[in-house]
Amino acid sequence: MVHTKGKFDFIDIKTTPRPMLEHLMAVAQRLKSEFKSIGRNAPLASGKGLAMIFEKPSLRTRISFEAAMRHLGGTATYIAPEEIGLGKRESVADVARVLSGFCDAIMARTFSHEAIEELARYSSLPVINGLSDVSHPCQAMADLMTAKEHFGQLPGLTLAYVGDGNNVARSLMEACSALGLKFRIAAPKGYELEARSIKDAVATNPDFDFSASNDPICAVKQADIIYTDTWVSMGQEAQKAERLKIFGSYQVNANLLRAAPSTAIVMHCLPAYRGVEITDEVMDGPQSQVFPEAEIRLHFQKGLLAVQLAGV
Ligand code: CP
Ligand code: NVA
Repeated sequence: MVHTKGKFDFIDIKTTPRPMLEHLMAVAQRLKSEFKSIGRNAPLASGKGLAMIFEKPSLRTRISFEAAMRHLGGTATYIAPEEIGLGKRESVADVARVLSGFCDAIMARTFSHEAIEELARYSSLPVINGLSDVSHPCQAMADLMTAKEHFGQLPGLTLAYVGDGNNVARSLMEACSALGLKFRIAAPKGYELEARSIKDAVATNPDFDFSASNDPICAVKQADIIYTDTWVSMGQEAQKAERLKIFGSYQVNANLLRAAPSTAIVMHCLPAYRGVEITDEVMDGPQSQVFPEAEIRLHFQKGLLAVQLAGV
């Protein structure tokens, strides 16, 4: 049991202590084993409700949170982008205050990271970041849980991220720092992770083994995990043509895999733009862990909800 003072918000990995990250993963693993062996979980969230605020589309995040609440005996309510007009029809603070009287936890997917922080500030409920322009902590933790299942342990592994220095890359970097993995990133000039985020990740772990370059081949040389994400994140659609040109040589394809150890696995948070940032051959190939990775979103988030709602 990891004790938290007051409610436990899960907004960023860098602000979540390492023992809590390890606890979340252990609880998630236990609930996954329970579910796989007997086809159900103990009703740890019986009678509880999760409000899910979405300003952007989603397949995995929405459905995996819904399934997690169902398996734990609770319910989840989907709130569509146009429905509450977060910060437009009503202030973020007022939405947070009102939901506090109806539900037991809030998950939010927003453009602005500050909106999620504000929900947490003004709500008495635990708040979960389901992706913002800045970070995607549930994704990164599910990803490292996938790697742990595959390799047996995390410390010492090398994760090489190839592509845009975006929300997913930032959370992966923070997770690698906190949990003892080495992190390599290859991104085009102008699309790297910014110095401030790197400094924060190093502050979490002064021994963090990090390197950044503009060279994908160099980044994957010692990789255990090769990771990519879309070159055009939600909200960046107007930059699509320009980005596709700039990122052309950052595709995860068979040629790139030949530069990495043959034991390396390939991951992608999805949705994937096949033939753009990743080829069919790689995504459907023997090194791909992309679909187990997607399923583990359910298990990690179930662990998170069990900790937040039942104090497991
Ligand atoms: N990876 C992920 O968060 O997927 P969705 O956008 O479909 O939720
Ligand atoms: N970087 C992507 C991740 C999607 C899950 C985006 O923000 O659109």
